[in-house]
Amino acid sequence: MSRDFFNSRAAAWDDEVAEKDISRLETIAERLDIKPGDSVLDIGTGTGVFVPFLLKKIGGKGKLVCLDFAEEMLKIAREKGFKGDINYLCADIENNSLEDDSFDAVVCYSVFPHFNNKMKAFKEIYRLLKKGGRLYICHSSSRQAINEVHKSIPEVCSHLFPENEDTRGMLSDAGFEDITISDSKEDYLVIAAKSAGR
Ligand SMILES: C[S@@+](CC[C@H](N)C(=O)[O-])C[C@H]1O[C@@H](n2cnc3c(N)ncnc32)[C@H](O)[C@@H]1O
Repeated sequence: MSRDFFNSRAAAWDDEVAEKDISRLETIAERLDIKPGDSVLDIGTGTGVFVPFLLKKIGGKGKLVCLDFAEEMLKIAREKGFKGDINYLCADIENNSLEDDSFDAVVCYSVFPHFNNKMKAFKEIYRLLKKGGRLYICHSSSRQAINEVHKSIPEVCSHLFPENEDTRGMLSDAGFEDITISDSKEDYLVIAAKSAGR
């Protein structure tokens, strides 16, 4: 099971797997329209690689919920002692107990291909966003490059990105609007909005 895989990799994650190029993480963070004071859900927090960048964006008045189903990954994030209004939640996004309409933004940094049931995850994220809120799916490589890496690792060889148009279709079916998908050599970014009117 995927959770067991990530728990088993937690201790070595920062040294062996996590993105270490700060400028790439900064570039991704700059593209997210997250404002001071926003309430943000970070799905697949892992050891907290993207947390400092989100904290910088939301500032002292913002709220951050760090969600991950692998307790060993989340434990490392928690032990880093990030400062701010942060809650750590060990849960599966596909079966969570968070309240409806809670977040201005939901960020999935380096987790999307690992969702077991992507449609279910999208419906949950839609439920959790406030009206007008935005989902950001981001990666520091292209869709194809990440799929190739995953195919070479037995435990995650089936954890693949759908075709971009299939991702767009699922987001639309889940209720999202204003969907943009940018997939380049350097990064992958999906932005999708929950209607401000419904
Ligand atoms: C590839 S790691 C990335 C971790 C971190 N974002 C990073 O970039 O280092 C994916 C993380 O997502 C978590 N994850 C995968 N599927 C999940 C789900 N359905 N619900 C919550 N967490 C999930 C895993 O436990 C793992 O920590």
